Amino acid sequence: MSKKGGGLAEVAVEALDEEQARAELERLAGEIAHHDALYYRSDAPEVSDAVYDLMRQRNEAIEARFPDLVRPDSPSKKVGAAPVEGFGKVRHRVPMLSLGNAFDDEAVKEFVERIRRFLGLGETDPLAFTAEPKIDGLSISLRYENGKFVEAATRGDGSEGENVTKNIATVREIPKALKGKDLPGSIDIRGEIFMGHSDFQKLNAEQAAAGGKVFANPRNAAAGSLRQLDASITARRPLRFFAYAWGAADSLPAETQSGVIEAFHRWGLPTNPEMKVCSSVEDLIAYHAEIETKRTTLGYDIDGIVYKVDRLDLQERLGYVSRAPRWAIAHKFAAERATTILNDIEIQVGRTGALTPVAKLEPVTVGGVVVSNATLHNEDEIARKDIRIGDTVVVQRAGDVIPQVVSVVLEKRPKGSEPFKFPEVCPACGSHAVRELDEKTGKTDAVRRCTGGLICPAQRVERLKHFVSRTAFDIDGLGDKSVQAFYDEGLIETPPDIFTLKERDAASETKLKDKEGWGAQSARKLFNSIDARREIPLDRFIYALGIRHVGETTAKVLARSYGDIATFKSSMIAAGESKENEALAELNNIDGIGGIVSAAIVEFFAEPHNVGVVDKLLAEVRPAALEAVAAASPVSGKTVVFTGTLEKKSRGEAKAQAERLGAKVAGSVSKKTDYVVAGADAGSKLTKARDLGVSVLTEDEWEALISG
Ligand code: IVH
Repeated sequence: MSKKGGGLAEVAVEALDEEQARAELERLAGEIAHHDALYYRSDAPEVSDAVYDLMRQRNEAIEARFPDLVRPDSPSKKVGAAPVEGFGKVRHRVPMLSLGNAFDDEAVKEFVERIRRFLGLGETDPLAFTAEPKIDGLSISLRYENGKFVEAATRGDGSEGENVTKNIATVREIPKALKGKDLPGSIDIRGEIFMGHSDFQKLNAEQAAAGGKVFANPRNAAAGSLRQLDASITARRPLRFFAYAWGAADSLPAETQSGVIEAFHRWGLPTNPEMKVCSSVEDLIAYHAEIETKRTTLGYDIDGIVYKVDRLDLQERLGYVSRAPRWAIAHKFAAERATTILNDIEIQVGRTGALTPVAKLEPVTVGGVVVSNATLHNEDEIARKDIRIGDTVVVQRAGDVIPQVVSVVLEKRPKGSEPFKFPEVCPACGSHAVRELDEKTGKTDAVRRCTGGLICPAQRVERLKHFVSRTAFDIDGLGDKSVQAFYDEGLIETPPDIFTLKERDAASETKLKDKEGWGAQSARKLFNSIDARREIPLDRFIYALGIRHVGETTAKVLARSYGDIATFKSSMIAAGESKENEALAELNNIDGIGGIVSAAIVEFFAEPHNVGVVDKLLAEVRPAALEAVAAASPVSGKTVVFTGTLEKKSRGEAKAQAERLGAKVAGSVSKKTDYVVAGADAGSKLTKARDLGVSVLTEDEWEALISG
C-alpha cells in the first residue's frame, strides 16, 4: 500500500496545497483499492465500514477542491474490485452502480433540494421517494428470460462480475421461474444476498464445532457462502435475498419504483416488507429514525436507509453522477453508542509482553450486542480522554470492530475520582514495564512492555519455545508442542527447569517414559539431547535469553565484545546502575549496538527476576567464549576503531575480519581504544586518538599487524 504523503492524512482538506492534495489523492487511491480488494475478493476487511467511508469522503472532498487533480484511477470512478479467478465472468448489460452517502439529516435535505433544483420543481410540487433499509450483504444481478432464471452474477467491479449461477440456483428464496402475466421477455433483477442473525450464529456454531472457518459477521458469511466453487456447499448455507432494483429490462411493469418492486413481489421474488413511500424530507427522516430504533429486531444487518425517487421518468431525467445515481442516496446510521459505567481498567499482558488496557464495563446493549469489555487502546489514550475508574463512559460499536470507549460523561464523574495511573510494573509477574524511545523520531512508543520475559507467566511459554528453538539452544526432541505440554503440567516454567528435568523425573513417581506419546527410548533421547547442550557457545546463550531487539547477530557482537558470560553479566548489571557510567558507555560504544538495543539489554538485566533465572541457568550450563582461534591472533581482545575511507576493503569487511580475529570493533575513540585505523579524510576520531595517545595505524600497517 502506498505510504506516500506521510503525515498528510491528518491535514484538513481545506489546508492542503496542490502538491499535498496530489499526494493525498494518490495515497487514498492506493488505500481504497487495497480495502476494496479485501472487501470484495477475500471477504476479510481490515477496517470498519465507517473508516472506509471516511477515506472515500476525504477523497471526494479533495477532488471537489481540486477537480484538475482527479486521477484516472480515482476511487470515485470505480465500484468494488475486479472479479476473482475461478468463476466465469459476466459482463453486466447495465453497470451495477453504487450509492452516494448522507451521514446526517442536513445531507438528506441537500439531496432533496438538489433534486428539486435539477428538475426545476417548486417547493410545493409533489416529489415522492421510496425509503427502505440498506441491507449489509452483497449485491447480485439475476437474469430471467421469459420468466426463467438463467444467470446470476456478483457486482465485481460494476462492469463485470463473477458468474455464480450454480450457487444462486441453490438459494431456495430465489424462484427458478417467475409467475404473472406482465413478465418482460428479459430482465435483470438486482438485489442483496445476505444472511440473517440467527442463521449466522447457527452456522458459526457449526463451523466452530467442525473446526472450520468462523466468520466475523453475517456479511462475510454470506459472501463466503456464495463464492464457493463447489455449489453444494452454498446449498447448505442459509442465504436470503431481497430484490430492490433492476438492470437491463425489455419492459417494466409499472411507472414508479414502488410499483415495480410490488410487481417483483407478485412475481414471487422476496422484497423488503419495510419499504415505504414518503412524500417529504420530514417523512424520510422520521422513517430513518423509526427503522434505526427497530434495527436490532429486524433479524438481519442493515447499515442505513436508501431513498430513491419514486417516479421512473424523473429517475431517468436525473441520471447518474460518476458511480452513483443522482436519484438515490444511502442515509447511513451513526455508529451505535451507549453509555455505561466503567467498573475497572484491566491491564492484559500479551505474549510479547505488551500491556493493553481493557475497560471492564457494566454490561450494556450496544446495537443489539451486550458489551462488557471495550478497548482503551493505550496509556496515552486514557490520559488524553482522562478516563477514570467509576466514570460514566460513552461506548461505541461500529460494524464488527471491537467496541471502544469514546468519551467520558464529565457531569456524572463521581466526587474524589482520580486520574488513572497506568501501572509501571507488569500485573502478571511484577517485573518493571517500560516504554521504548524511538531515537529517530524522538517519540516514546505508545505501548508499555513487561521486561520480565523469562518469568512472566503471560510470556513464559513463548520464551521457552524461543529458548529451545533451532537457532538458540536447539534441543532435539523438545519442540513447541512438548514445551507447551511440559509447561501445562508444571514441569517446565523457566529455562533452568529444562536442565533439571532428568533429575526430577528420576525422583518422580510419574515418569516421562510412561506418559502418552513417550517411551523409554524417546525419554532417554530427550535427556541426552538436553545434556548435550550443557556446553553452548556464548552467543547462542545470549540469544536464547530472548532479550528484546537482541537477535542472532547482536548476540554474536555482544559475545565477541565481552568474551565470557561473567564479564557480560556483570557489565550489563553495572551499565544499569546509573544513567551514565563507564559500563554503559562501553556498551553504547560497541559498533552495531544502537541506543534501543542497549536500552533493552540494560532493562533486561535491571530486572532482578531475569538475573535470577540467568544465575539458575548458569548453575546448569556453561557458555563457551567464541572461537578459540581468537586467542592466537595478534589483535584478539584489542579494541579497534576504523575511521575515514578505507581503500583495500569496505568498512564492513574490515570490521568482520577484525572480529573474526577476536578484536572488538568500537564506534568511537576512548582511553580503552587500542588502535585507530585511519583511512583517507579521517576527521575528529583521528584527532581524538592523537589527543589520547592511542596508536594510529594506516590501513597498510593494520594489514601487516593482523597478518602477524
Ligand atoms: S439500490 C443504483 N437499495 O448498497 C442503485 N442498494 O452502497 C442500486 N444495497 O450496491 C442500489 N440495500 O449492494 C439499493 N435497498 C437497497 C440496498 C442497496 C443494500 C447495497 C447495494 C449497493 C450498495 C451501495
